[in-house]
Amino acid sequence: MQQERLLKVLVIGDLGVGKTSIIKRYVHQIFSQHYRATVGVDFALKLLNWDHKTVVRLQLWDIAGQERYGNMTRVYYREAVGALVIFDMTRASTFQAVLKWKGDLDSKVALGNGRPVPAVLLGNKCDQLSTGLCSKLPKLENFTRDHGFVGWYETSAKDNINIDAAIMCLVESIMAVE
Ligand code: GTP
Ligand code: MG
Repeated sequence: MQQERLLKVLVIGDLGVGKTSIIKRYVHQIFSQHYRATVGVDFALKLLNWDHKTVVRLQLWDIAGQERYGNMTRVYYREAVGALVIFDMTRASTFQAVLKWKGDLDSKVALGNGRPVPAVLLGNKCDQLSTGLCSKLPKLENFTRDHGFVGWYETSAKDNINIDAAIMCLVESIMAVE
């Protein structure tokens, strides 16, 4: 008999890092250069045939970057079982914000057993490799481990690089906990 699992996953990170673009690429296979800031929160759903007896309903919560300064995240984070934490590889300030987002997450939501929810780190816009932080990135291996992420990926919503891999990594860790 088929069983269904509903997974609430948060997509967080500073303004303009590409959260909405990553979700649009993953769910609808589309990309737009046009930037329209998310207001509050948006939702998307993707169905995954996980194994022969399990369908995963992946509910992606696209949280506006500006919400870091608001006080709604406690409400949005409730019942989440995992998170994608995103920064923009071309803007150092968005990388510095990663730990603020991770801290906000861990202070407001946890698994039933009290452990932090699994989180994967995404360095997005890796198609713009000539600019920005890339020379500093080998250190991310340590950064990821030290700050409790289950993995990290360089991604591009524009060129469809590593989006599926990053989300699969997250879903696998979520499914492994329970
Ligand atoms: P907020 O909703 O304000 O928090 O922003 P966001 O994180 O949802 O960013 P959004 O997806 O709207 O993308 C911001 C801008 O970056 C848009 O102009 C996108 O086209 C662009 N962008 C997103 N992902 C990529 C990428 O992988 N590569 C490049 N070159 N541009 C990208
Ligand atoms: Mg957005």
